Amino acid sequence: MLSSITRASVKPTQMASRAFISTWNAVPQGPPDAILGVSEAFKKDVSPSKMNLGVGAYRDDGGKPYVLNSVKKAERFMMDQNMDKEYAGITGVPSFTKAAGALAYGEDSPAIKENRLAIAQSISGTGALRMGAEFFNAWFPHAKNVVVPNPTWGNHIPIMKNAGLNLEKYTYFDKQTNGLNIDGMLEDLHKAPKNTIVLLHACAHNPTGVDPTKEQWDQISKVMKERGHFPFFDMAYQGFASGDCSRDAYALRKFVDEGHQVVLAQSFAKNMGLYGERVGSFSVVCADEAEKARVDSQLKIIIRPMYSNPPIHGAHIVSTVLNNNELKQEWLGEVKTMADRIITMRDQLKGHLENDFNSQKSWNHITDQIGMFCFSGMTPEQVTNIKNDWHVYLTQDGRISMAGISSANVKYLAEAIHNVTKD
Ligand code: LMR
Repeated sequence: MLSSITRASVKPTQMASRAFISTWNAVPQGPPDAILGVSEAFKKDVSPSKMNLGVGAYRDDGGKPYVLNSVKKAERFMMDQNMDKEYAGITGVPSFTKAAGALAYGEDSPAIKENRLAIAQSISGTGALRMGAEFFNAWFPHAKNVVVPNPTWGNHIPIMKNAGLNLEKYTYFDKQTNGLNIDGMLEDLHKAPKNTIVLLHACAHNPTGVDPTKEQWDQISKVMKERGHFPFFDMAYQGFASGDCSRDAYALRKFVDEGHQVVLAQSFAKNMGLYGERVGSFSVVCADEAEKARVDSQLKIIIRPMYSNPPIHGAHIVSTVLNNNELKQEWLGEVKTMADRIITMRDQLKGHLENDFNSQKSWNHITDQIGMFCFSGMTPEQVTNIKNDWHVYLTQDGRISMAGISSANVKYLAEAIHNVTKD
């Protein structure tokens, strides 16, 4: 019996051959991740026509991952500099955080000019969101209630809840119009308890591809002011909505101008193609420089026991690109190229559905929506059918990552969608 002998004397083969009960015996199998699990299933499929439209990762028109030229040049420059591999400070590489803040808020932002933006490098957007949620949990002086759009990026929910916040949803998407239900959204924001934290997608809403117009942002800002709500922006797609990084920062900058004390989770995964480098930032617009110093000190206290300090390579790439005017201009052009390719795929997908396959459904939302995703309106059953019959992989909510489509397979996709959606 295992209890009568020491564990050290039991060899693994003996343990396997006896009725050994592992300490982890009762650990249940967890479900696959709603987004990353799609990639796992895709990898196992051996069909030559398979398509991965699950994860939001940009592909070039040959269907290949795309490393931006500006990024390659920055890396070559970094190699020539013979940079060391010393630790960054707890809040990251200063030349990165300075440039990241300016890109998001604008060089002329009063928060930057008056040195009252507390900003810390993060493990991409997810890490920034988690840092933000932890910061709210520790220091938000009101009830720790956060509301997120319905639907929202699936990971928002466990990020907020695991950090201890109470989470509810506000109306966002209108299934009838495949657009924004602005009245429902304003009503829910109005009804939410005063001083609620409101998670807002700054641009290119994930998963719906539906953003408020400028006028609607103004209405949202107004109701949030009236109710004392607190804006928590997630900007994972700056540049991907319109192709223009300044235009995509409209909502964030407008809220700052209107005196909201915003916080922001920012990511360079998509717009600089730095997915695996995990580079982003979390920032807090403070009232003055002294408050900024206090917030900075608390961010360090949150970060240090989680991962000590962030990785440096991606931060140096972003810093090199954004702090060199020539590279920055090249990068801005590349962002536009990526955004434009997605727009072209939207046009072609809709065109094939309507003209080649004579689909009788309305597909206007494919071109009305913006950013990396199309919320196709496909039901979970249709998503299962398109996977089983056509080897097309997408998330169960019918979200299509437009960046995974190329001119070589857009017609095949249209045929597949038409077949699973026709009555
Ligand atoms: C997505 O929504 O597909 C991306 O944000 C990738 C991820 O981590 O979920």
